[in-house]
Amino acid sequence: MAKWNEFLEEARGAALEAGQMLRSGLEEGRQVSYKGIVDLVTNFDHQAQEMIFVRLSAAFPGHGFLAEEGLNRGEQGEFRWVIDPLAGTTNFAHRFPVFTVSIALENQGRVILGVVYDPMRDEMFEAVQGEGAFLNGRRVRVSAVDDLNRSLLSTGFPYDLRESPVNNIDHFNHFLIRAQAVRRCGSAAMDLCYVACGRFDGFWELKLKPWDHAAGALIVREAGGRISDFRGNEFEITSQESLASNGLIHEAMIGVLGLGRKRQSEGEPG
Ligand code: IPD
Repeated sequence: MAKWNEFLEEARGAALEAGQMLRSGLEEGRQVSYKGIVDLVTNFDHQAQEMIFVRLSAAFPGHGFLAEEGLNRGEQGEFRWVIDPLAGTTNFAHRFPVFTVSIALENQGRVILGVVYDPMRDEMFEAVQGEGAFLNGRRVRVSAVDDLNRSLLSTGFPYDLRESPVNNIDHFNHFLIRAQAVRRCGSAAMDLCYVACGRFDGFWELKLKPWDHAAGALIVREAGGRISDFRGNEFEITSQESLASNGLIHEAMIGVLGLGRKRQSEGEPG
C-alpha cells in the first residue's frame, strides 16, 4: 500500500469532500440540464467535478484527467485520474438518496487505485492493485453464493434505451426469472462495490463509460471477484459490456447473457 499511499489519501480526501458537498446539497434546489431525452446533468455534478479536479491537480500537477462532465486532458501521460463526480445523477436530481463519487487512477493505462464514496451511508470503498478491497478500512470479500437461483443481482440501462434495441431489456427479462431477484440502484459504481462486499452476487450493464466502472471494477477484483465482458473475455474500462460477479456464478451469468445475443443474431428482439 505504501507505494501508492499518497495517491490514495488524496483520492479519499477528494471523494469525501465532494461527497459531503453533495449530501448537504441533496435537499437544495438544483439546476438540471439535458444531454439527451433522459440523460441529465445538474450543477452539482459540475461543482463536485471542479472540487475533485482542483484538489487532485494541485496535489499532482503532472497528472492527466478524464471525467464525465467534459474533462479530458493528458491522456498519454504516466498517470491519469478517471472520475465520475456524481454517479447516480438521475437519483440525485430526484432527491433519491442513492449516489456515489467514483475516482480511479491509471498508471500507464492500467487502473491501480480506486475509491468509491457513498456520502449518504458514509461508506468509503477502496482498493489498490494487489492489496485487497476495503470498506471503511475493513477488508471486504465477494459472496459465496454459487447458485443463480439464490443470487441477488443488479443492473442498469443505457441512456439510449428508447432508440437502441441493444438496451438490456432482453437480459433483464432473462435474469428476472432465473435469479432470486434483480435490483436497479442507479449508480453503477455502487453496484460494483456491492458485488465486492457481497451485498450483490452479480452485476451486468451495457455501454458504461470509463468513469462509471474504472474504480468499481478494481474494487471487485481486489475483493476476489471476477469482471469480464458478456462472453467472459478480458475487461477494459473502455468495454461496452461489464459483467461482474463473485466468480462462482460468472459462467451461469454468461450463459443467460448468451440467450439475448442468440435471439438477436436470429433477427428476433432479445
Ligand atoms: C449512470 C449510473 C447508472 C447507469 C448509467 C450510468 P451517471 O451514471 O451509473 O446506474 O445505469 O448507465 O451512466 O450518469 O449517474 O454518472
